[in-house]
Amino acid sequence: MYSGTSISKPLLMAAIVLLAGAVSIGSATPLQEQPGHSTLSRRASLAFAPIPHPSSSSSKLWFGDETQSLAVDKRGNVYGNSCGEKDAKGDYPLNTVGRIDAASNNITLFYEDADSNTYITGLEFFQPRTANNGLLLTDITKHRVIELTWNSTCPKGPASLVGKTDVARRVVCENPEMLQPNDMAVADRGRRIYLSGLRGTMDSGEGDLWLCNTESGKMQRLDVMGRTNGIELSPQEDCLYVSEAVGGWIPSNNRIWRYHLDPATGAVMGDKELFFDFQKYDQTGHVDINGMKLAQDGSLYVTRMSGSEIVVLSPEGKATAHIPTPFKRVADVNMGGPDGKTMYIVGPADSDDHNKPVDACLYKAPSAVAGREWTRLQKEAASK
Ligand SMILES: *[C@@H]1O[C@H](CO)[C@@H](O)[C@H](O)[C@H]1NC(C)=O
Ligand SMILES: *[C@@H]1O[C@H](CO)[C@@H](O)[C@H](O)[C@H]1NC(C)=O
Repeated sequence: MYSGTSISKPLLMAAIVLLAGAVSIGSATPLQEQPGHSTLSRRASLAFAPIPHPSSSSSKLWFGDETQSLAVDKRGNVYGNSCGEKDAKGDYPLNTVGRIDAASNNITLFYEDADSNTYITGLEFFQPRTANNGLLLTDITKHRVIELTWNSTCPKGPASLVGKTDVARRVVCENPEMLQPNDMAVADRGRRIYLSGLRGTMDSGEGDLWLCNTESGKMQRLDVMGRTNGIELSPQEDCLYVSEAVGGWIPSNNRIWRYHLDPATGAVMGDKELFFDFQKYDQTGHVDINGMKLAQDGSLYVTRMSGSEIVVLSPEGKATAHIPTPFKRVADVNMGGPDGKTMYIVGPADSDDHNKPVDACLYKAPSAVAGREWTRLQKEAASK
């Protein structure tokens, strides 16, 4: 046999080691090539610490495996859907929102919808023009968006809206033709909402994108595509990022589209552009994208459900970092805390039996940049 290969291989390895050594000089975190990744991207390990589970306190409130959205208020407190006390089967209520106090990690039942069939998936805060606080919720049962506004001036923000009479609840958009609203991105101080949807069964692989005007109640279908999930706006509200899983239950690709928007009207301008393609990048097209959040520097934090990581993408569409997560099925990320620079992540706990409900995993870590939601609320509150 020709022995050339047995000589060239170690030489090639040595060259790679040299290259890796050269690249890491002068950088705080050594750059490390991920197997199969087509570009060099940084493995950025964050110091994730668990939010203490109720077993360590007197409260029994926690989040379940449907807790897949995290919102943040202007004070940096963090909110997730599906919070409560779990039933005998291990399920948590779906018509609720839980609040995690930024300073103490205390969990309180923040909101419970009077309609017990309401199934809240997405949530995002906004600064209304007519009240001190506003929260928007998507409901997949009735294909609608619910707006809550309240006037509390309590310095830390109310720990709960349950039982409060000065909370206005309004259905701002509803359309049975809209596939389940899965997640949303809020623009123009709550006047416009972009909604991503997927059909009830993951198998169908169908999804769509909608725009809701909360003042007129008018809804408009902007696109029809594969299963959509993560949706996020740029800080100037001129770009909209939407994830798409192509194929059925196990997709053949997961990619992110970028739509260009007229920030004054919210209308889509021109053709959407392919922003990132995971199959092309590192052959992980089968790993679902779940929640996505933008940091104030314009980078997009993309959760990879079952992928045990968050991938950070630059506005140019380059993967700049891979953040390993302490559990596999990371479903959403957001930045809260007093200065907006604490990263929170959530997702169902690892389990071998996917038919059995599990508790949510909830972790936080110091992060370098604040998120879009927190930063937007600071600006909006200042210009109210
Ligand atoms: C956290 O909640 C518990 C009971 O729910 C309460 O006793 C405690 O004072 C709270 N801690 C803070 C810092 O708010
Ligand atoms: C909040 O206060 C404003 C101005 O006083 C008022 O118009 C609005 O109805 C109040 N909203 C709620 C939910 O109480």
